Amino acid sequence: MAKFLVQKSGPLKGKVKISGSKNAVLPIMAAALLTEEKCEIKDVPALRDVEVMCQLLESLGARVESDLDHNRVTVVSEGSLHFEAPFDLVKMMRASVLVLGALLIRTGRAVIHLPGGCAIGKRPVELHLKGLKAIGVSIDEHQLTRGIIDATAGKLRGNTVYLDFPSVGATEVIMMAAALAEGTTVIENAAQEPEIVDLANFLNKMGARIKGAGTDTIKIEGVEKLKGVTHHVIPDRIETGTFMVAAAITRGNVLLENVVPDHLKAVIAKLRECGAEITMTEEGVRVRGDKRTIVSTDIKTLPYPGFPTDLQSPFMALLTVAKGPSVVIETVFENRFMHVGEFNRMGANIKTNGNCAIIPGDKTLQGAQVVATDLRAGAAVVLAGLVAEGTTEVSQIYHIDRGYEGFVDKLKALGANIMRMDE
Ligand code: EPZ
Repeated sequence: MAKFLVQKSGPLKGKVKISGSKNAVLPIMAAALLTEEKCEIKDVPALRDVEVMCQLLESLGARVESDLDHNRVTVVSEGSLHFEAPFDLVKMMRASVLVLGALLIRTGRAVIHLPGGCAIGKRPVELHLKGLKAIGVSIDEHQLTRGIIDATAGKLRGNTVYLDFPSVGATEVIMMAAALAEGTTVIENAAQEPEIVDLANFLNKMGARIKGAGTDTIKIEGVEKLKGVTHHVIPDRIETGTFMVAAAITRGNVLLENVVPDHLKAVIAKLRECGAEITMTEEGVRVRGDKRTIVSTDIKTLPYPGFPTDLQSPFMALLTVAKGPSVVIETVFENRFMHVGEFNRMGANIKTNGNCAIIPGDKTLQGAQVVATDLRAGAAVVLAGLVAEGTTEVSQIYHIDRGYEGFVDKLKALGANIMRMDE
């Protein structure tokens, strides 16, 4: 299995261009099934998850041209589609469930075998199904007990749906189905992430009538038909935050290009509390970790616009070496501290109790053999390896390939001592 070898690196310096957002492009690619016309999606990150989504759309009968060297994907889904998502693709990427709404609209049916839990939690979909049932979809409850979504839909009718939790995926799936339902749908307690806004912008360009994306109440007036469009995907705010932490933890001075600072208010605020200097310039956002001592702060992850759960583990890497103790509380996923054991192998001495982690800080980390337990935790242990004494060997790096385009090359260009070992 491929591994990363990471050596203690000096301060990262130079500039890095942020790629398009993984969590924006995946629902947008699914939404392309809502029209038979061609959709051209640009600024697509060259990621394993994008490749899997391309394969999934093709397996459903769409024609997909992916030119990831030039960061673009074209989707044309003329004629009839298959309604069953192949399990071997769904088990590789939970986000496959995002095709649920579009499949129901196009074929009147959707069958998706859900994989079990994953490293960070059970990942239920009851809110996705609650919303779909509210607009007229029927779910085979027996199949559901076997972990299979078997949904059928006649003409969908708008309704009001309250989400018990502002689920990103549920908001996206309901928005896609409601776009072509009869009448108006209101999603209350909707997710407010920038990726929701990007999906709504894509759908509205196609002719949908969606208002309120980015707030907790989204109103979707159903329309008859949607047309093919061209769309540029927003920059990846989680990749951005990851490289901001990389600059801070190595006491570096890095310019990040292709950034939307507004998408990172919580992260920028927290990095500033730790002593990083963050300035917005014409060319992008400059992050300096070399101006002041990096000190501790406390983090509580929340749905957007709160501190993003996806940056909890990368930020924790910074806290292990910051001056003073920190408390991290993870409220979004029920099991997102798998990286703590990896940091402790490096000498971090973190203690956890339920969804709370106490990081003593002031540590000089030691290189070790560690594992990427999920996509973001993988990036986090690489960041720790950049400042640890000696060599850190990171395995299961396929997780990282899923969500960070050119991760090694971008870090190397900033002066990081990291190399990929393909076995
Ligand atoms: C999206 O996942 C992202 N993935 C995740 O990023 C991100 O961590 C998450 O949103 C939260 O921001 C994509 O966009 C492809 P949720 P999603 O539904 O939609 C619970 C990454 O690293 N929940 O908002 O699956 C759920 O169990 C990935 O890029 C229910 O209880 O997230 C979780 O605890 C990881 N019932 C919480 O809500 C439901 O029906 C957040 O889940 C749905 C969700």
